[in-house]
Amino acid sequence: MTDAPSAASGGPPPEGGAPDSVPAIDTPLTRHAGIRVPVVCGAMYPCSNPELVAAASAAGGIGIVQPVSLTYVHGWDFREGLRYIRSLTDRPIGMNALIEQGSKTYRRRMEAWLDIALEEGVRFFVTSLGKPRWVVERTAAGGGIVYHDVTERKWALKAVDSGVHGLIGVNALAGGHPGPRTPEALLDEVGDLGLPVVCAGGVATEEDFVRVLRLGYAGVQMGTRFIATPECSAPDAYKQAILEAGSDDIVHTERISGVPVAVIDTPYIRRMGLKAGWFARRMLRGRRTKHWMRTFYALRSFWQLRRALRDTTGSTEYWQAGRSVAGIRAIEPTGEIIGRFARAAARAGLGGGAPGSPG
Ligand SMILES: Cc1cc2nc3c(=O)[nH]c(=O)nc-3n(C[C@H](O)[C@H](O)[C@H](O)COP(=O)(O)O)c2cc1C
Repeated sequence: MTDAPSAASGGPPPEGGAPDSVPAIDTPLTRHAGIRVPVVCGAMYPCSNPELVAAASAAGGIGIVQPVSLTYVHGWDFREGLRYIRSLTDRPIGMNALIEQGSKTYRRRMEAWLDIALEEGVRFFVTSLGKPRWVVERTAAGGGIVYHDVTERKWALKAVDSGVHGLIGVNALAGGHPGPRTPEALLDEVGDLGLPVVCAGGVATEEDFVRVLRLGYAGVQMGTRFIATPECSAPDAYKQAILEAGSDDIVHTERISGVPVAVIDTPYIRRMGLKAGWFARRMLRGRRTKHWMRTFYALRSFWQLRRALRDTTGSTEYWQAGRSVAGIRAIEPTGEIIGRFARAAARAGLGGGAPGSPG
């Protein structure tokens, strides 16, 4: 299912050297992931190109590989793609495992990807949907650390029961599949479970970063902010739309995956409508049929979103983004964003005294 290899599809390769000028901000996330700054460049289908993942890691945060994006969109054999990223940076990278119970073929593919990732030295895993126990078990012998995306306490309890090491609290402001809670309410709901919680959604500026660290989050996972970087290979029209959008321009559509996905409100999205059709809604309610329907949606959306990403005419404005668009006003290198965040946190006294921290 691979297309033409696209080693050249991203922006300029990141600088590989150690980000020594960046203050170290010590949190449970940085210790778990072996990184310097508690910033995760979240998995993004279809926007996670290898150069973006590498740039986030090279800057002291951690870039998360989205396996379907790496192979199906960016044309890499999975192992070769990981090696390519490793050739750009020797810093830790992570991998996303979407583990929704759907097709057996997909589950087997995901198991194979996890094994390859472990062989290639990946130790940090972000799981979404489903029950992450099997990922925890499969990666444990290799020293894997698993953080699970959660939107509400009931999912967090299942994740804790599965033995995960941390939670990613996906709030109502997030890109991708947002949750129902504000960042504050979600931390209140899951902050007492004895695991570090990372804030996903609504973070675009260093002020946002400092604010959520002060709330008690162990770090942030950002997606939308990193699309507006030279290292992300998304089309210019998409990046421009992010710069121009305000938070009211983000709407949630069910037409992509059957559950709400945050997108920029464009004429294309308005033409499609935001609600799933009656047939899909009915299928999504059935206990058995919901898994088939989600698999169908997933396959169709992989194809549609890849097509939109490659459309340079701007006519397929199928652009996922979170409400953090409100704080994004310029295309900036990934390393500059992460460096600025680290310096602001250090100035705010959040350095945490990690060894070697100038902050
Ligand atoms: C374009 C886009 C695609 C995404 N795709 C995925 C994905 O494939 N898997 C996943 O776990 N999260 C996905 N997310 C969610 C991000 O990893 C992250 O949690 C979210 O973007 C944080 O909110 P923000 O966009 O406001 O920073 C996606 C987000 C965006 C914007």
